[in-house]
Amino acid sequence: MSTTNTTTSRGAHQHWSSRWAFILAATGSAVGLGNIWKFPYITGENGGGAFVLVYLLCIAAVGLPILMAEVLLGRKGGRSPIASMRELVKQHNASSGWISIGAIGTIAAFLILSFYSVIGGWAISYVGSSISGEFVGKDSDAIGGLFGAMLGNPTSLLFWHSVFMITVIFIVARGVKAGLEKAVTYLMPALFVLLVIMMIYAMTTSGFAQGASFLFTPDFSKLSTEGVLTALGHAFFTLSLGMGVMMAYGSYLDDNISIAKTSITVGLMDTVVALVAGLAIFPIVFANGMEPSSGPGLIFVSLPLAFGSMSLGSLIGTLFFTLLVFAALTSAISLLEPSVEWLEERSGFTRITATIFAGAAVWALGILSILSLNLWSDVHPLGMFAAFEGKTIFDLLDYLTANIMLPLAGLLAALYVGWIMKKEDVAAELAMDSTRFNLFWNTVRYITPVAVIIVFIYNLL
Ligand code: PFF
Repeated sequence: MSTTNTTTSRGAHQHWSSRWAFILAATGSAVGLGNIWKFPYITGENGGGAFVLVYLLCIAAVGLPILMAEVLLGRKGGRSPIASMRELVKQHNASSGWISIGAIGTIAAFLILSFYSVIGGWAISYVGSSISGEFVGKDSDAIGGLFGAMLGNPTSLLFWHSVFMITVIFIVARGVKAGLEKAVTYLMPALFVLLVIMMIYAMTTSGFAQGASFLFTPDFSKLSTEGVLTALGHAFFTLSLGMGVMMAYGSYLDDNISIAKTSITVGLMDTVVALVAGLAIFPIVFANGMEPSSGPGLIFVSLPLAFGSMSLGSLIGTLFFTLLVFAALTSAISLLEPSVEWLEERSGFTRITATIFAGAAVWALGILSILSLNLWSDVHPLGMFAAFEGKTIFDLLDYLTANIMLPLAGLLAALYVGWIMKKEDVAAELAMDSTRFNLFWNTVRYITPVAVIIVFIYNLL
């Protein structure tokens, strides 16, 4: 098959210039705050090694098969996620209920972006703090105090959240795929190199052995069932699954490119970034007598502490938080896209108008997350249900999307590929040797759905 789009069943849009362009864009979406901010802090909250092991299992047995399933559905449909599913449902004579795969994802992406942007705002604010040398010579209490003061100030949170969202709106409205693709080509490797530098620094601290053992020595007594659900939810979140993003990206992928190889590469890069981030962060946490379970503030306290005491710390800190902002932006852009596309289709708005409307709605919803960090920190809207006890609006948005909506949409994608599509069609699309294909086929039909359903039911009980 040629590199231009000639097949009639496929939409008439452009394709990635190469396998690497797809890998980079998909990795740009996958690698974000989830890897560097969320993975370390949920690992800390869930006791370390056992959680990491379950998370890795979830990536291999659930995340990768669903990533392949979503890319495959996108490439076969050749259009936006909802339109692709509509087309496929017609081809396969399946129920139109399957189109909900696209709808759940669009709503989840919208909700996630509303708080993702607030965290992106923290990262921008920390670029400023690094430049002005605010961390230099401070101890962990003082640095914890800076973080607490930021959370306690709704006006400044709103300001940084607005800066982040305006940047996202600007990029998405212009649809600068080429610019973004190019930027990601340099920024993602740079972020990785900086993380490795941080890890090397962490190796020189007295907490390295303890940090590494915290990450890699499983102690199952520390893992709760909610922890298992968190691990599963995070596998979806970190690989950008259940949101139609990988379907949309898959629709620009040429037929001659291996879905399996590219998906495995994306999954591996995402996992390596998360583990290196863990190895960079936990040693510093232990060396300074901090708690690994301190929650969402973990990297915003532990890393500034390291920057404050190392030579060239302000420079490295500035670079680190700048790259974190870029990693967050490349993910945030992919989160806004589904709502924009939907508004364009539905309302006939131009791309710019649709982006401004969708972006403004996300921005407004973000205000609720901001308030739940300070003025509304005691507001627990669903507190009457045991599962949601003590959860603020911010916590709820995170919980409902990562732990319920994404796994549900991902489960439906796996079921569609495994049970609605014909085996020969899937085999033809994947073009793997038969042993590997059978492994994929059995995983996507049985192991993946059963794993997701068991975790769901267990959690309900
Ligand atoms: N995968 C991103 C991260 O780990 O930060 C977050 C994300 C981006 C989730 C895009 C979903 C998505 F569609």
